[in-house]
Amino acid sequence: MGAGKNPGWASCQALSAKCCLPAHQTNQQPSAYLRFPRVVLSACSDLSLPLRVAVQKNNFRRLLRTVEALSDLGPEMTAEREFSETARTMLSALRQTVGAREGALFGFSDRPSLLTLIAAEGFALLPEPTVIPLLPKHVHALSSLRSPVVLNPTTYDVFLSSNGNVAPELFKSIAALRVGGKLVGMVALGRREGESLYEEDELEALGLLSHYVALAVHNHALSQSLAQRMSENLRLLASLHGFYDNALEAFAAAIDVKHVNIHGHSLRVGRYAAGIGEALGMDQGEVAALRSAGYLHDIGKVAVDKHIFGKPGALDPSEFREMADHTVVGHQIVSGVQFPWPRIPEIVRWHHERGDGSGYPDGLLMEDVPMAVRIVGLADTFDAMISERPYREPLSVGGTLSEIVRLTPQKYDPNAVQGLLLQVRRDAVGSNRAPFLENRAGLSIAPPDVDHLAATLQHKLSSGRLYLT
Ligand SMILES: [Fe+2]
Repeated sequence: MGAGKNPGWASCQALSAKCCLPAHQTNQQPSAYLRFPRVVLSACSDLSLPLRVAVQKNNFRRLLRTVEALSDLGPEMTAEREFSETARTMLSALRQTVGAREGALFGFSDRPSLLTLIAAEGFALLPEPTVIPLLPKHVHALSSLRSPVVLNPTTYDVFLSSNGNVAPELFKSIAALRVGGKLVGMVALGRREGESLYEEDELEALGLLSHYVALAVHNHALSQSLAQRMSENLRLLASLHGFYDNALEAFAAAIDVKHVNIHGHSLRVGRYAAGIGEALGMDQGEVAALRSAGYLHDIGKVAVDKHIFGKPGALDPSEFREMADHTVVGHQIVSGVQFPWPRIPEIVRWHHERGDGSGYPDGLLMEDVPMAVRIVGLADTFDAMISERPYREPLSVGGTLSEIVRLTPQKYDPNAVQGLLLQVRRDAVGSNRAPFLENRAGLSIAPPDVDHLAATLQHKLSSGRLYLT
């Protein structure tokens, strides 16, 4: 609407520029202002001066309230707080602007088509939750509603169904909330102050403010559906991890089937590595990765001659090379597989590396070995030492931990060893819900002995630090 096309506007300008807008705005016609001066314009030309001034003041007050409400809505929509609170504040601003005693804000969801109450003010009693199911004809009518309407007995059924748990007759005027032509909700106003009817000006103000409320409702619905999709994806991922866990457990058992002495080794290494990760406060994903990597760390042993596993004495150089190659062969096997955990190939390759460069196959130093590899390597060593071998009896838990502490931090990561000691101590005092160690003879240690080992390790580390400074 331009000034030239509006005779009222022109006559008003001729009468007095100040009559319609403040002096500095007489040459501007922003749309928010253009929608409101209609009553003012007719008043300017038809009424006596005192009445004209009164009408102008009244209309400017309403205009001011609307602009005020608009300026309040911006911060409301972006405020970091619960949406229910934002919705209540927006509804309150709407209600005050149009002088409504009662107001309700609904969100719309399809499949099934339903209006659900988000916030309400002034109504005596609304059920929880308040819902209005919509038929396709209602959705179509509301989606096509470009400006607010006053409802009457003949139009209730056009826009709303009476199948909900609230009577449509409670609402005197409604505004459809639409974004991009799609219905996202509805503002419904009940009775006005003084029981008066909603006039064109109130409906225009309601229509203007509804655009902003629609955006806020739509944004909230989007973020909710995003959160819902995220949690569905996480659930799927968890079930996928569960599937992987089961499949890899079966793999772990198959890897160790070559000789009775290594039965259960990969399963235990997976469990110990996960336990150490938990003790170090790693998140669920990292712990799951450690468990799976532990299950698979010796997968290359499928290529090792099974007689080597049962040899009672030391391996000759070619046998040792064949055994040591299980790291490289395993790395080749898992590198071709897309695991949900990207570190598995390097864990399989490097689980026999040691911090002082004495390990194989690449002779890495501690700083080149990732933490997950250090943990699986330690879990592997720990299980190998407390298990029987063809050439020796199993070591006790105390003796094994003592040897590991002796070789830390030169060969083993001190944090990983502390995590191992913590889990063993939890077993010793009975605070582990699921025991860390297997329940078999010799696998126990007194809490003071673990404390002594932890103190020894701490002393070694702090002495090292003192020496360095
Ligand atoms: Fe190994």
